Amino acid sequence: QASSALQGVKLMLTAGPTREAIDPVRYISNHSSGKMGFALAEAAVAMGAEVTLVSGPVTLATPRGVSRINVDSAEQMLTAVMQHIDQQDIFIGCAAVADYRVADVAAGKIKKSSETMQLALVRNPDILATVAALEARPFTVGFAAETHDVETYARDKLKRKNLDMIAANDVSVPGQGFNSDTNALRVFWPQGNQDLPATDKLSLAYQLLSLISTKITKK
Ligand code: C5P
Repeated sequence: QASSALQGVKLMLTAGPTREAIDPVRYISNHSSGKMGFALAEAAVAMGAEVTLVSGPVTLATPRGVSRINVDSAEQMLTAVMQHIDQQDIFIGCAAVADYRVADVAAGKIKKSSETMQLALVRNPDILATVAALEARPFTVGFAAETHDVETYARDKLKRKNLDMIAANDVSVPGQGFNSDTNALRVFWPQGNQDLPATDKLSLAYQLLSLISTKITKK
C-alpha cells in the first residue's frame, strides 16, 4: 500500500512501554510490545514521510528508513519528543507511557527486610497532552485502550487532551491490542468517526495514515 500520500511530511511517533526505575536493577513497566507504533513507522516511510520514532524498550527491529531514538522512562521520552517536535507535521502518541514513576529512585539495590514495603509514586507528564498544548503544534493523534464504553472515553480523551484525532481499541476483545499482531480501531475526530475492522497492524497502519493524510496541512 505504498503511496505518496505523506510525501514531504515529517511525522514523529512514540511507541512501546516506558520503564520507570525503582532502584539500579528494578523497574515498573507494562506489556506493550510496540508493534502498532512500529507498523505505523514502517507504513509512514512507505507513504513518503520522514519518520522519527521515539521508542521505549522493545525487541523490534527498526523499520528501514526510520530515525529511531531509544528511551527508557516517560521523562526521557518527553525530552526526546520535545527536542524535535517543532519540525513535525504529525505527532502520533502510540506509546504505553507509565502513568506514574517512583518518587525517590534508590541509589543502591533495595534489600529485603520487612514483610511489606511501600513505594511512593508520582504522576508522569502526559507527553501527548504536552504536545497538543503547544502553540504551533503538529496534527496530534492519540491512542486509547479501553475495555468498555469505547466511544465515550475516546471522545472524552479527544476533548480533554485537545487532540485532532484518537484511535481507540477495545482491549477486552481477545486477540486485539496489546502484544497481538492484529487489531481493530475506532477512529474519532471532532467532526466524525470511522471504524477500521480487525486486520493485521500493518494494514491498519496504512488505513489510519491515509485517514490522517486527508486531514493534515503540511508545514
Ligand atoms: O490517558 P491515556 O493514557 O488513556 O491516553 C492514552 C494516550 O495518551 C496514548 O496516545 C498515549 O501514548 C498518550 N500518553 C502520553 N503520556 C502519558 C500517558 C498517555 O503520551 N503520560
